[in-house]
Amino acid sequence: MDTMGFTLEGKHIVLGVCGGIAAYKSVELLRLLVKEGASVRVVMTENAGHFVGPMTFEALSQRKVCRTLFATADDAAVQHIHWAEEADGVVIAPATANIIGKLANGIADDALSTFMLAVTCPVLVCPAMNTNMFASRQVQRNIGLLNGFGYAILEPGSGELACGTTGPGRLPDPLIIRDALEALLAPKDFAGRRVLITAGPTREAIDPVRYITNPSSGKMGYAIARAAAMRGAHVTLITGPTSIAPPEGVVCIPVISAAEMATAVLEQMDHADIIIKSAAVADFRPAAAASLKVKKEDAALSLQLERTQDILKAVGARKKNQVLVGFAAETHELDRFAAGKLKAKNLDMVVGNLIGAPDAGFGADTNRASIYYKDGTCEAVDLMSKKDLAHLLLDRVGRLGG
Ligand code: CTP
Repeated sequence: MDTMGFTLEGKHIVLGVCGGIAAYKSVELLRLLVKEGASVRVVMTENAGHFVGPMTFEALSQRKVCRTLFATADDAAVQHIHWAEEADGVVIAPATANIIGKLANGIADDALSTFMLAVTCPVLVCPAMNTNMFASRQVQRNIGLLNGFGYAILEPGSGELACGTTGPGRLPDPLIIRDALEALLAPKDFAGRRVLITAGPTREAIDPVRYITNPSSGKMGYAIARAAAMRGAHVTLITGPTSIAPPEGVVCIPVISAAEMATAVLEQMDHADIIIKSAAVADFRPAAAASLKVKKEDAALSLQLERTQDILKAVGARKKNQVLVGFAAETHELDRFAAGKLKAKNLDMVVGNLIGAPDAGFGADTNRASIYYKDGTCEAVDLMSKKDLAHLLLDRVGRLGG
């Protein structure tokens, strides 16, 4: 099965590490990149060695670390050129004021700065230093120069720094750095396309303290939103209540109930080229929600329910030249039910899940899907992370012309 979707798997990444307290986070970043399947080489400055020893990086990357231009007799003098040619992406984390100054001015006096002059692939620079240093005119001018050279700069986080000051200068969490690197390297094949995504469960109030919902975590929809944004799309995410932070660069519209989701989707749908409805919308809601908490002495033992609007069906009926993708979560007869929904709701594609296995469907980090197309074909997709599945689904949507 081919997946053109973007991941760091098999990519050649060079991690540049400078001498700063935050160098300990580079170890975690390296671990994350290796976990994604990237082949990582580490180039560190002499000062970085005061904070983390090269053996840690060597053990995790399974490769020799480059620290000096002249350390070993073999290929040290030219290895930085070879590594620069081979690299698909470079990330410098933490980037000190010193390396930023050197890069801005073309100084090549150690392994990392010399290597950087030979690099032609995308570069992500992650500054981390004392707040006043970061705010200094010199550093700000140099960062401006790097921007002008086409380097991507990851804004440092704010907070209490190791030196005791508070303000911007902290190296962001390694997960944020990994995401920024992925976004930098991802192909921009959805540039200019407007994608509307729904995610998460809805909550249907019984009274102010009780509601009906389902176990949807929102992970699948958020993964699609993130993947689409990374690939250059303008993404609007309409989301029921979840515990996940909205992805970077995505317009997020939070809703609670199916009715609110319906209003938001119908308001937004005309602005979208592609609509992906991964939300687990409640099919029923209490016929009348009580405005005050129902006391158990007064409660009836049965709830009167009514149907919510089928949002996907309404969108299918109204859609013009738009690609519409629905989801079908079933406990049995997936093929029949999913294909039925495709037709009944005028969809271009349905992503079907068999609910029940612990590694797929609600709440899991992985998913096993079958994709049903309008032409009657079906594609079974192996178990994979929701992130990989998100990219694969976007590949398929792209083929449909969305
Ligand atoms: N859906 C929707 N509005 C609803 C219910 C579902 O938009 N009120 C959408 C979901 O976002 C999903 C698709 O319809 O993309 C399928 O949802 P699902 O609950 O599996 O199916 P239903 O069509 O509701 O049918 P049934 O519950 O009978 O299986």
